[in-house]
Amino acid sequence: MASPERRAALPKPAQYGRAARASREQSPAAPSSDGLPRRSLGAEERGRPALNWSPVNHQLGHRNDGPACTPVQRALLALTIPLETLQAVKGRMLQAMRKGLSRETHAQANVQMLPTYICSTPDGTEKGDFLVVELCQSHVRTLWVTLLGDGNQSPQVKCKIFDMPGDIMQGKGEAAELISWSKGFSCSDVEGKDVVQLLQAAIDKQELYHVEVVALMNDTVGTMMTCSMRGQPCEVALIAGAGTNSCFMAEAQQVEMAEETSGRMCVNTEWGCFGDDGTLSDILTPYDQYVDQESSNPGEKRFEKLVGSLYLGEIVRHVLTSLAAGKVLFIGSNVAVLRTKDVLKTQQVLEIIDTEEGMAKARAALDALGLRPSERDCCRVQQICRAVVSRAAALCATGLATILSHMCQSRELERLVVNVGVDGELYRGYTRFGEILQSVTGLLAPECMASLLPSVDGTGQGAGMVTAVTLRLAAQRREVDQLLAPLRLSRADLERVQALMRREMELGLGCQTNANASVRMLPTYVRSTPDGTERGEFLALDLGGTNFRVLVVRVAQDSIHIASEVYVIPTTIMQGPGEALFDHIIECIMDFQLKQDLMEHVLPLGFTFSFPCQQLGLDKAVLLSWTKGFSATGCVGQDVVQLLQEAAQRKQHLGLKVVAVVNDTVGTMMSCGYDDPNCEIGLIVGTGTNACYMEEMKNVGTVKGEQGRMCINMEWGAFGDNGCLDDIFTDFDRLVDKKTINAGKQRFEKLISGMYLGEIVRHILLALVEKQLLFRGKPCPKLQTKDIFPTKFLSTIEIPWAGDGDGDGGANGARGSDGLALRQVQAILQDLELQASFEDSMLVREVCQTVSTRAAHLCAAGLAAVVEKMRENRGLAQLAVTVGVDGTLYKMHPHFSQHLQHMLQELAPNCTVTFLQSEDGSGKGAALVAAVACRGTKP
Ligand code: G6P
Ligand code: BGC
Repeated sequence: MASPERRAALPKPAQYGRAARASREQSPAAPSSDGLPRRSLGAEERGRPALNWSPVNHQLGHRNDGPACTPVQRALLALTIPLETLQAVKGRMLQAMRKGLSRETHAQANVQMLPTYICSTPDGTEKGDFLVVELCQSHVRTLWVTLLGDGNQSPQVKCKIFDMPGDIMQGKGEAAELISWSKGFSCSDVEGKDVVQLLQAAIDKQELYHVEVVALMNDTVGTMMTCSMRGQPCEVALIAGAGTNSCFMAEAQQVEMAEETSGRMCVNTEWGCFGDDGTLSDILTPYDQYVDQESSNPGEKRFEKLVGSLYLGEIVRHVLTSLAAGKVLFIGSNVAVLRTKDVLKTQQVLEIIDTEEGMAKARAALDALGLRPSERDCCRVQQICRAVVSRAAALCATGLATILSHMCQSRELERLVVNVGVDGELYRGYTRFGEILQSVTGLLAPECMASLLPSVDGTGQGAGMVTAVTLRLAAQRREVDQLLAPLRLSRADLERVQALMRREMELGLGCQTNANASVRMLPTYVRSTPDGTERGEFLALDLGGTNFRVLVVRVAQDSIHIASEVYVIPTTIMQGPGEALFDHIIECIMDFQLKQDLMEHVLPLGFTFSFPCQQLGLDKAVLLSWTKGFSATGCVGQDVVQLLQEAAQRKQHLGLKVVAVVNDTVGTMMSCGYDDPNCEIGLIVGTGTNACYMEEMKNVGTVKGEQGRMCINMEWGAFGDNGCLDDIFTDFDRLVDKKTINAGKQRFEKLISGMYLGEIVRHILLALVEKQLLFRGKPCPKLQTKDIFPTKFLSTIEIPWAGDGDGDGGANGARGSDGLALRQVQAILQDLELQASFEDSMLVREVCQTVSTRAAHLCAAGLAAVVEKMRENRGLAQLAVTVGVDGTLYKMHPHFSQHLQHMLQELAPNCTVTFLQSEDGSGKGAALVAAVACRGTKP
């Protein structure tokens, strides 16, 4: 045992009055009057050897503790647990809790950590009438709880109490999956049964009312639920009453016994059984052993038997018995009465420890037992009572500290600030209990800041709250599912999209049908992918994605060297006169050439121009329409090479030689094709979306010639502009489309690409707020602003949480930890002036997931049509092909690529598709196309 000097520093009770003074006068060496560990002891004490008390071998009254230690002091010391020991107990309890949480070890665990399936605390919107039945020690209490849902969170309660006769408590179980009875209950036929069913059957038998049993809960959960009602959520509760127990909101994925993997779930710790495997043996005193042996369940609920009020009176009785037997107390009196079980009630113990009345109460209680106590006896009995109750408080605090540290760790917080609801007669009946609880918790879990909230009729009203919350959540879930259902496309929906895409492709390729097809299938005049013989030095422009870039690309025998510069194109220029746009481009080229010392060179130029163009040759491309927020005037219908050259003349830049215009999909395919000859598809999922692939010339009705293949720029972003996708568009999609500068156009792109997903999410969030399903229905003015929720938020919000079972092992993005991920979501929402609760964050994440998953699946449906067509074109049973892919959404989103690839495999099972991410953008591809074009002309 630790030396007294190392004992815990605890605030001393403000005043213990007469009794305390008396005890200090007796011996400075004694533990503090309330039996708590104390930091420093009197001078005489310091010289005394540390007590070497071993509880296991210990026989009362036979210790060799040195001359200064009286039997009373020894008893008090035995009941005093030093801080180091409490720390050790905390460590063991943490282990026990982990054992209870883990699926593997749960069956053997003493601390069972039972999932409650309560995943939410009240938010004040709950309303309705709820009947609560509470099974108490000696009575049944019924409450009629009315919640108004007005946000002010004070329920109206009507209560009626019915006595519970002893023969019912111990009789057959019909009148009330119970694991075991405790606290004096032992109805037969109930353990192992579903209590809800038993109760519902009993209600139905009465045929009086229609009462549906919605929730069954432990009293701790009720306490937590009512303490939540005071404005801030309460996430921990503990009961220190007849028995003891606690519950807290755990990270759901750690509650392995439940299937939930996201969010939080309240866990009922059932910590009363802590120590049933012997882990508490070093703190158990012989008095505790006697109490246990005389109880109805020896060896069980060892922790509860140190803390619960059902046992404290008994512990005191055993201390008194042994001191009386050693002739230390009640000398000359007949002490036989002390051998009778329960002659001393905990209520009396609590009265005796009272500062003011305590001594008188002690005398009265002891007199009533015929013990004829002296003043000194009364004083000692008071000390013993205090020690027993204080130890209970300190152990309770140890349990609380364990929970808090566990929460803090699993939420990955440096500091946990949390409200703790507390109930039970010990806490209510003895102020010092709360003080000890608070201070010892602070010492054992200094990283946590717990505010203890006394529960007012917690257990009863709490059950009403649980029921209300359960019903609220169920109703909310139904509404959320209803709202999101149109965005959740079934396999059949996707197969239909695939078939429609295939049909539109055929229409786009056909000479007669091309004009009316929504998928334009534009010829690119690129007839082969790179073969490795390309050489030379080229300029490249890359316009149409997030960045406008100018590049110089040097293609050598076995390497490609690229230097590039990113330039900004302001919205005013994107949407102003076309001349200004092309003048700006020329200025950027001149700046680049100057920086790269290329002013004197006339280099062939490849132009990645990522908009739909009707190409009349490799170097002639008529702009069909702007997309992605561009709308520069005077360009549509014009050859962009011509527009560029005219601007060069205006700027007197005479050395511009455009040899090829390519779409970014084509640039990407070529760029990836340089590394993988199997790459015959280019895919972009970025600001916009599109794909290109190598089609058989004989199928391209819009270009003469039957031999070989040509790369077709599908322009699939416009798929659906003819109405063929109308039934999959949701109201949210229509709202987003309406607000764009090209309403009615690029409808497929608006379901998939980065420019629009954030907007779709924003509209859904607004709808959820309006339906009171999010942010408690509080209006969100900032969220009304167009584009305030960019698609990159989806990538951040959807970073996998530690508990997510998405099976990709984090391969597709950084796997965030739960705490971090949650903080990121909350930070994003906070920037939008949205105060998100934990559940709000979860819902926002669900919305993002729904929208991005739909995008990935639609993309897969499009791509499935492409690969299947290529396979059929080539008459193959199985096609192996590589897709060169680029775009910020594809690259940055943590799940997009995985969802895309997975669904593609489902929809096109006969194709083995490899995805190759382009690393250098499509500028490199444009240069390669230019190189092929120059091959014949170069010396
Ligand atoms: C590549 C190309 C760009 C293209 C972009 C698409 O990097 O070089 O021309 O437009 O991918 O991605 P983004 O997300 O920028 O639209
Ligand atoms: C354009 C395509 C382009 C795609 C990806 C679409 O808006 O129409 O030409 O390939 O975006 O950048």
